[in-house]
Amino acid sequence: MKKREHFTSRAGFIISCIGAAVGLGNIWMFPYRLGQNGGAVFLIPYFIFVLLLGSTGLITEFTFGRSAQGGSLTGIKEAFKKKGKKGGVLIGSIPAVGLAGVFMFYNVVVGWIIKYFTLSTTGEINKIQIDNFFNNFSGSKETILWNAIAIIIALIIVVIGITKGIEKANKIIMPLLFIIFILLAFRSLTLPGAIEGVRYLLTPKWEYLFKINTWVMALGQAFFTVSLNGCGMVVYGSYIEKDMDIPRSAVSTAILDTISALLASFVIMPAVFAFGLDPMSGPPLLFITLPTIFKSMPAGQILSMLFFLSVIFAAVSSSINMLEGPVEALMSQTRLSRKKATILISIILFILSIPLNLNMDLFNNFADFITIVISPLGALIVLIVFYFMRDKEDILEEINMGASKKVGEKFLLFSKYGFTTITVLVIVLGIIYGGI
Ligand code: TRP
Repeated sequence: MKKREHFTSRAGFIISCIGAAVGLGNIWMFPYRLGQNGGAVFLIPYFIFVLLLGSTGLITEFTFGRSAQGGSLTGIKEAFKKKGKKGGVLIGSIPAVGLAGVFMFYNVVVGWIIKYFTLSTTGEINKIQIDNFFNNFSGSKETILWNAIAIIIALIIVVIGITKGIEKANKIIMPLLFIIFILLAFRSLTLPGAIEGVRYLLTPKWEYLFKINTWVMALGQAFFTVSLNGCGMVVYGSYIEKDMDIPRSAVSTAILDTISALLASFVIMPAVFAFGLDPMSGPPLLFITLPTIFKSMPAGQILSMLFFLSVIFAAVSSSINMLEGPVEALMSQTRLSRKKATILISIILFILSIPLNLNMDLFNNFADFITIVISPLGALIVLIVFYFMRDKEDILEEINMGASKKVGEKFLLFSKYGFTTITVLVIVLGIIYGGI
């Protein structure tokens, strides 16, 4: 057997996890949710959820991967085998399949982003009629090509491997992403009228603290943004050694993810308000509102290029995590090389994505189904297998190996019963609210 690759340093591991966590969720969901759900008040439930639940979830997923020295499929299969239960492979495949689903819809969007980056680079973005353009472009045949380019970028990085591919890419991409965000936030905040956007984000509207919706939105956001689905973070955890401080790495990932979401808010909303536009989320924000702003701004073309480049960075560092999950799962069950497994999975996912490129209703329903049901279900499976199928001494030992501040029984009780219940709640509330 070939020796398993490991991240070369703690920094390399944490940067890669931050790369997986920081993505479109931070850029096109968070700023809008913050403004829409009570401004500064939204930060109260959000901080509670992302710091407490996010860290707990990450600790669980990292530890699950490290102790199995394999992804969730390997870990779940072994746990079932030990207990003499059948169905390990079937249940163990759910997180990887869910992550493959995230990869599919996510890369349709990455394709659009790459297209907008090239439009900015060539200056064409100044000539097009922005809302018409997007409405004709999304769902058209042309997007398939851009989707393919997005998948090929992820494929190349994942084929190269963990240290020379994923870790290296993140070490280059992530610092650049933060630098560009800081520059853009500075530009946005110094626009005349930007203060209105700051008010939108930060004026506390206390009544929102008493609305269930505020808490539901904060909960859903926290889960998606730190990438809890029982596969992506498990697989990164499977590439660390026994001396890695897991609790600290988890907390650092959650904190940096939050900082980036706040930074993105100050890039986007001050500019939106300075130009008297409506705040939006999702595709209309990225592909209509922001290009409209860049068009009427001095040096707009350069800013637009920089902005789309930073979104490409944020998205690609997440999408390589989404590809690594299913690739590792396939490699663990077959004798395929990394290269063959990556190419095979990429081709399959690309073909399956074609209908998502062409039909926007299908795209939306698929993305909802994956993020609302399948993704948290994967996280739940790992929680149950980790906390309910092992002894507590064993669990604590695995988590605390290499930790400077060790977690104790209280953490265990909270994770086993509290966190598991909340994860069930995420699925149920997601279905009731039609997406959280
Ligand atoms: N967290 C990323 C974002 O905010 C998306 C992401 C990456 C993800 N890996 C994941 C979501 C695994 C769910 C599961 O955009």
